[in-house]
Amino acid sequence: MGEVRNFRVWRGDADGGQLEDFQVEVNDGEVVLDIIHRLQATQAPDLAVRWNCKAGKCGSCSMEINGKPRLGCMTRMSTFEATETVTVTPLRTFPVIRDLVTDVSFNYQKARELPAFAPPAGVAPGEYRMQQVDVERSQEFRKCIECFLCQNVCHVVRDHEENKKAFSGPRFFIRAAELDMHPLDARTDRKDLAVEEQGIGYCNITKCCTEVCPEHIKITDNAIIPMKERAVDRRYDPIAWLGSKIFHRDQLDRPAGHTTTGVATAERPASSRQPDAGSPSTPAEHAASHQAQGEISMNWHREAPAGQAAPVGSDGRLPVTEFTGQMAGAQSPFGDDVPLPLPVDDINYQHPSRTDEG
Ligand code: SF4
Ligand code: SF4
Ligand code: FES
Repeated sequence: MGEVRNFRVWRGDADGGQLEDFQVEVNDGEVVLDIIHRLQATQAPDLAVRWNCKAGKCGSCSMEINGKPRLGCMTRMSTFEATETVTVTPLRTFPVIRDLVTDVSFNYQKARELPAFAPPAGVAPGEYRMQQVDVERSQEFRKCIECFLCQNVCHVVRDHEENKKAFSGPRFFIRAAELDMHPLDARTDRKDLAVEEQGIGYCNITKCCTEVCPEHIKITDNAIIPMKERAVDRRYDPIAWLGSKIFHRDQLDRPAGHTTTGVATAERPASSRQPDAGSPSTPAEHAASHQAQGEISMNWHREAPAGQAAPVGSDGRLPVTEFTGQMAGAQSPFGDDVPLPLPVDDINYQHPSRTDEG
């Protein structure tokens, strides 16, 4: 029997609610989610909470614990004083469905608005090659478990419902940065999208998102600040602007008529051509540019890998050598010089039948 501790949980739904006090048993090694489960089992069977893995990997059990956005399954009860009342409330930025469960569909909507990875034209899946350094750069962002704690804590939307339309939030800034830094992503407008569609300009680098990220992703330092710098370079650096008016760097050694994706402009439908002379400057040109980029991400001209027939013989079957040939296998855990089967007395495992015999 553990000790009895004070717990306070918000109960209610979209129409309102209140904090309810509980006294509940807490044992060594337990986390806040364990206590919520104990409350469900003993005192509040209808208490709603969303969870899945209880291992800090599914991102479902996001809640506010003593006012701080955290994962319930990763917050040990031992981090609180024995006399402290632990207060658990739902994420504040998203509408409450019931008790600790909120409607996080805002995030899925923002995810849908972000253009997907656009593979380079002419390179088939399986032929993509990246430098290890580029893999490592984006690996940090791919650790995201979509717990949306960063989205919840960001003051741009936390207290300003009206900003939600124009602001994607830190989780989607790291996704945009990941794709912008991806050496094989063919889109060239991710920085413009970050400013115009995702509202990265609203972020004033308070770093609250980085502070709450359970995956320790350096959201501000490694994603938001580089994206902001790149967007500023692209838009306001006079030398970069002048350069973009003269030529694109990757067009220097390409024959005329080829675009950055390596596909001849004339070969593509007019709507999918990239603007060749500098950046678009009017809203209509921007819209047309994004539309064109969107069609590039469809990758109309990608060459599909040639299919390979199975190496069957004239009877339509695989030759027996496919199954009997020398194939490299893992080393035997017993070593190479051990005759198999092992003498039964050398085996430590005591089979029940031997006890019967003995
Ligand atoms: S650093 Fe930017 S995105 Fe992160 S919480 Fe602050 S304002 Fe929001
Ligand atoms: S970036 Fe971190 S805090 Fe934000 S959703 Fe991903 S894992 Fe959660
Ligand atoms: S239950 Fe999956 S992260 Fe907490």
